[in-house]
Amino acid sequence: MVPEIHPNESVFTWAAPPLKFGPGALDEIGGEVAATGAATVLVLTDPGVRDTGIPDRVRETLLAAGLKAEIYDGVAVEPTDESITEAVEFARQREWDAFVAIGGGSAMDTAKAVNLLTTHPGELLDFVTPPIGGGKAPWLPVKPLIAVPTTAGTGSESTTICVIDFLGLHLKAGVSHPKLRPSLAVVDPRTLLTLPPQVTAASGMDVLSHALESYTAIRYDAKAAPEDPMRRPAFCGSNPISDVWCEMALKLVGENLRAAVCNGHDLAARTQMALASTYAGTGFGNAGTHLPHANAYPVAGAVKQYRADGYPEMPMVPHGQAVSATAAAVFRWTYPADPARHLRAAELLSGRTFTRTDGAEALANVLTELMTDIGMPSGLRSFGYTKDDVPELVDGTLKQTRQLAVVPRPLDRPAAEQIFLQSL
Ligand SMILES: NC(=O)c1ccc[n+]([C@@H]2O[C@H](COP(=O)([O-])OP(=O)(O)OC[C@H]3O[C@@H](n4cnc5c(N)ncnc54)[C@H](O)[C@@H]3O)[C@@H](O)[C@H]2O)c1
Ligand SMILES: [Fe+2]
Repeated sequence: MVPEIHPNESVFTWAAPPLKFGPGALDEIGGEVAATGAATVLVLTDPGVRDTGIPDRVRETLLAAGLKAEIYDGVAVEPTDESITEAVEFARQREWDAFVAIGGGSAMDTAKAVNLLTTHPGELLDFVTPPIGGGKAPWLPVKPLIAVPTTAGTGSESTTICVIDFLGLHLKAGVSHPKLRPSLAVVDPRTLLTLPPQVTAASGMDVLSHALESYTAIRYDAKAAPEDPMRRPAFCGSNPISDVWCEMALKLVGENLRAAVCNGHDLAARTQMALASTYAGTGFGNAGTHLPHANAYPVAGAVKQYRADGYPEMPMVPHGQAVSATAAAVFRWTYPADPARHLRAAELLSGRTFTRTDGAEALANVLTELMTDIGMPSGLRSFGYTKDDVPELVDGTLKQTRQLAVVPRPLDRPAAEQIFLQSL
């Protein structure tokens, strides 16, 4: 007889798209798109990535496979609701059978939004997680989307997530649904060789944070059982399968991020970081990110003047910088939820051994050392924030319900305030 199911969640879910990985994978995209039965393809990219020549090279493989292909290079770095509207208007001028996204999270997330909004009526906010948006689930088929990451960072090529800066709300927010997951991820580490050091550093810290947040997220079976098992949230909490990917990603980041920042032409370090990003994306796309990402959305959304070296000349806090700004304080605070896991993460990242007597400082110190070595900004003051901004930042964090659902300790306003104050 099957035993009674207890009131907590007892099931976790895991999914990832098919993947092509390795030098040369880029040149197989034409054949891959042709295999979907598509005849017309829109390639989406940003101007900086277009300058590398990669999108035009991919277009050649599409033409050689007998497809009609056009490039849209108007993607905004850190896309906004306005930049998405422009991309959607461009895409609506013709019927596209498939999309290819080439770039970092900005290009891949824009392509996900374009795929959603050219196959469904409505606007992006209708699909954003409540309370910010309407939380609608896509109900119609979407087109094949092939994602080609050119940063070792977001893992967007394997996730269900699309992150957008809503300018009027001064807040970033996400849409998440399995239909947004790309149909194929093509990871070619050679695409990383042109990535500037500051982007390598910030996107590498994003990889680290994906792995670390998923690894320390609340366990899937410590959550309440869902009301409707057919509508489980995309972020299910840490689980044995995601743990495997996250541990491997942490080790690879610890061993290779410094080298990739120091010498961008080091193909071996680039390849290991591409693997780390893929592993972390595969892990966090299921387990979920928690507080550093929830904090990053208001930090990036409320930016005033800050400009980041290596990025386009405009006020922005790049995602990887926003995520890592509060990481040390967050992991000091989450330490009591599972000390062994935090110490193990510090060991994987540093190659050193830690014991309980090292306590919450072990992981916080390992993170700070790494960030110093790769030239990351040292606190929220670098972005122009002061303690007067903390209440607004906390308001933004407390709206990120998707991430807060997997924070490993109950978070209240005073705890969130403390974390921001310690991160100034
Ligand atoms: N969907 C998800 O799962 C997810 C997860 C985390 C973050 N994000 C989002 O992704 C975005 C950040 O993406 P990102 O960190 O990958 O960077 P990005 O796409 O914003 O690109 C950063 C900069 O690097 C340049 N660049 C990218 N690849 C290059 C290359 N190979 N050579 C030279 N220059 C290159 C771009 O032109 C741009 O100027 C943010 O909007 C963030 O919120 C999404
Ligand atoms: Fe991220």
